[in-house]
Amino acid sequence: MELIRRPRRLRVNETIRNMVRENHLREENLIYPMFVMPGEKKKVEISSMPGVYNYSLDEFILALKEVVALGIPSVLLFGIPESKDSVGSGAYHEQGIVQQAVRLAKEHYPNLYIITDVCLCEYTDHGHCGLIEKGQVLNDPTLDLLAKTALSQVKAGADMVAPSDMMDGRVAAIREMLDLEGFTNIPIMAYSAKFASGFYGPFREAAGSTPQFGDRRTYQMDPANGNEAMLETDLDIEEGADMVIVKPAMSYGDIIYRTKERYGVPVAAYNVSGEYAMVKAAAANGWIDEKRIVLEALLSMKRAGADLLITYHALDVARWLREEG
Ligand code: PBG
Repeated sequence: MELIRRPRRLRVNETIRNMVRENHLREENLIYPMFVMPGEKKKVEISSMPGVYNYSLDEFILALKEVVALGIPSVLLFGIPESKDSVGSGAYHEQGIVQQAVRLAKEHYPNLYIITDVCLCEYTDHGHCGLIEKGQVLNDPTLDLLAKTALSQVKAGADMVAPSDMMDGRVAAIREMLDLEGFTNIPIMAYSAKFASGFYGPFREAAGSTPQFGDRRTYQMDPANGNEAMLETDLDIEEGADMVIVKPAMSYGDIIYRTKERYGVPVAAYNVSGEYAMVKAAAANGWIDEKRIVLEALLSMKRAGADLLITYHALDVARWLREEG
């Protein structure tokens, strides 16, 4: 064979493979999602997400010690309130569970970068992300509550807010409210391309946020649509989003890629609960090599164009990266 081009030349040993590697995982790019709930001395494992817990505030602070020690710069906070109501008032209460968690975390770890999820579904008794009237999820009346939620989180000390509700106009509403109150420097990371996905199942078990009627298809996107994800992202950036999230991640590499190609903003891939659960279940059965699969999946998100990775595997990944030096 007279082959001139032989790609295998650059794979011949570990050294050259390392030299030409195009993408890397780094702990600086990890965001660790965590769940907080009322009570004391409680650390309840989410049954479909081994290794992921609902924490009472005291246990949450203990858990943060390891997060920080592993060099993970940021956490994304979700709250499970004491009680839920039709207007999700726990989401924007000054003494809400997330607001308390943020204040406490900032006292203990002022440099930990705290991002708060802005949504109503964990706080509403009907489990939807907005107000309900005659069985419909209302858009515009919900915006004010989302903006109030973001403001209360920022007042508690959140460094960044991440609206995940998928109401139209929510980024503008949040930006306006934050600016009005003097928080012009607090960025918004919008869940811009958020699909109505079966991969959120374990999260909803954790947050008790399964819709009590209907589903989220009137606000989250149809998994069949890619162009629509670009429209959503256009709008969010126009409205002031500083960064955008693609969610889920594993089956949505095309959306990550298109988003990165098209926009000049950082892109975060959300490696969601169902993706985590599948990997954990297969690994527990000995069917796959967990470390290898997790690193490969996360690297594929980076290769597609993600700058940041929101993942429940963050602690393990940070440990593995350390082991490998
Ligand atoms: C709240 C929210 C959800 C997730 C993040 N924010 C649930 C949903 O939209 O049903 C999912 C996270 C995951 O599955 O890991 N709207």
